[in-house]
Amino acid sequence: MSFRVQSVVFPVAGLGTRFLPATKVSPKEMLPIVNKPLIQYAVEEALSAGAEKLVFVTSPSKRAIEQHFQTNVELESALSNSGNKKMLTLVQNIVPSSVECVFVQQEVPLGLGHAVLCARAVVGEAPFFVHLADDLIRSDTPCLKQMQQHYARHHSSVLAVEAVPNDRTASYGIVSVEKEPSGVQRIDKIIEKPEPEEAPSNLAVVGRYLLTPAIFEQLEGRGPGAGGEIQLTDGIAGVLRHEPVHALLFEGTRYDCGSRLGYLKATVEYGLHNEEVGARFQKYLKELTKKI
Ligand code: UTP
Repeated sequence: MSFRVQSVVFPVAGLGTRFLPATKVSPKEMLPIVNKPLIQYAVEEALSAGAEKLVFVTSPSKRAIEQHFQTNVELESALSNSGNKKMLTLVQNIVPSSVECVFVQQEVPLGLGHAVLCARAVVGEAPFFVHLADDLIRSDTPCLKQMQQHYARHHSSVLAVEAVPNDRTASYGIVSVEKEPSGVQRIDKIIEKPEPEEAPSNLAVVGRYLLTPAIFEQLEGRGPGAGGEIQLTDGIAGVLRHEPVHALLFEGTRYDCGSRLGYLKATVEYGLHNEEVGARFQKYLKELTKKI
């Protein structure tokens, strides 16, 4: 059995309706935080966890994501001709050449579960990550790496979770867990977007999943669930009946960049930590807060 998960699936075929009109033409995952699009942060997190295959589930209208990871001959020759070595190196090294990028089409956005199923042939019979780029996580150890470490010890599916306010459960997949003697939290129930009175806890699944191929059997032929979409959560509920699925309370801060407030918070935090502009940005914010 392999101790390292090598494939990461990035479902990026959603409509991004909460961020319209910005996402009318440009995919949500191309929204920048300071100077990098969300999808690039996602890819960097995957690479830091040792990923060797990046699988983007995209839609026919979302060419920008594919283009971001391909060579832009005109841009590179312009940067080369003007002697801008710094930017040339930057655009040439977005993904190391040893890493394979695969683009799979989801013709119609039927839901996250359906998007993951679209990656089946490329992922094959090995465990894999699912990474939702609009959940940006700032942490000392990248979240996927924390999950990789968990997998190396337990060889089971694992979902990154965090506690959310009780009145926010209807925005998430919610789990209830049972603590095993080893300290591991084993999920015994998972429900998509329950109202607070139906939620089994306030532990929400965030956009990081490590799944075994058993998920594909559960997603195949599955109909729509909450919100009329084919839900990954419902597939995971099926997996739970056959094999252990763990919850990992990851270390780090998550920003829901699919929402306007989360996106603004991430922009401020990443701006403050930016090498080039962080100190000046902090000074500006201090002056600004005196006025508000
Ligand atoms: P979201 O529900 O957060 O994204 O799905 P969305 O549907 O694009 O956004 P809103 O709610 O309309 O604003 C989580 C992730 O799953 C992908 C999205 O691109 C996002 O990264 N997704 C969702 C797909 O790839 N296909 C789908 O059919 C649905």
